[in-house]
Amino acid sequence: METLFKKKVLIIGATGGIGNELAKLIKSSQADLWLSGRNDLKLGQLASDLGLSSSQIFKADISDPLQVQAMAEWSGNPDIIINLAGIGIIKPLEQLSYEDFNRTIDVNLKGTFNILKSYLPGMKVFKQGLIINLPGVLGKVPMAGAAAYAASKYGLNGMLKSVREELKRTNIRITNLYLGGTDTPFWDQIDLNVQRDKFVLAKEAAKSIWFLCQQPISGVVSEMVLQPFNHQAI
Ligand SMILES: NC(=O)c1ccc[n+]([C@@H]2O[C@H](COP(=O)([O-])OP(=O)(O)OC[C@H]3O[C@@H](n4cnc5c(N)ncnc54)[C@H](OP(=O)(O)O)[C@@H]3O)[C@@H](O)[C@H]2O)c1
Repeated sequence: METLFKKKVLIIGATGGIGNELAKLIKSSQADLWLSGRNDLKLGQLASDLGLSSSQIFKADISDPLQVQAMAEWSGNPDIIINLAGIGIIKPLEQLSYEDFNRTIDVNLKGTFNILKSYLPGMKVFKQGLIINLPGVLGKVPMAGAAAYAASKYGLNGMLKSVREELKRTNIRITNLYLGGTDTPFWDQIDLNVQRDKFVLAKEAAKSIWFLCQQPISGVVSEMVLQPFNHQAI
């Protein structure tokens, strides 16, 4: 396993259910931890819980390219970026508004594009880096009600695989985690009959990402799948 000691690790979407748990694990590995999210209060609380200074947190909406560029200027070049920022609007097509669809694409797909555009040039200069994304199981397998969400995550899957082709001759690694239902606030606003008590626990999803962060650097872990027992879609 690669050590995370003193590695510069940026978590985007750190204020979410998985992000919170992951931040604790990465901090426990004595990494140089930097956190980003949309919500000032949640970011400030997380930083204070972890004993981080205010200079190690940054508020940015990833759907805005200018805010992502500002985030890249703030953070400099991280060794590892974990992108956990995402939204889930799950509704049947007739209830899905144009705004729902566009917002989902703007955050989940274009937001990740903004991150790649702002951070890959720096990683290319240093010829190293790891970017972990969560296209999720719905980036590979469809589900009723997920037209917008699956469109964003299938798009993400395709975009990341194409970028990986461009990076083949560098030491920059792209790792995709195909995560199934995980019990986080992501599901709080979703009107769907799901068995959250059977979902993957947020802290266990975080452990799998923590594991991915520590994989040997002479090769690339291209993908990992983690799903609940009762819903093994892949
Ligand atoms: N939970 C699941 O079942 C599951 C399964 C597969 C994949 N995933 C993916 O895993 C990732 C993390 O999910 P989670 O379960 O931890 O969800 P969550 O608890 O809802 O957290 C989502 C995170 O994304 C941030 N975010 C949302 N929109 C943003 C924007 N425009 N700009 C910047 N940050 C934004 C949120 O910030 P705020 O705190 O400010 O809102 C929060 O930190 C998401 O990409 C999700 O699609 C989740």
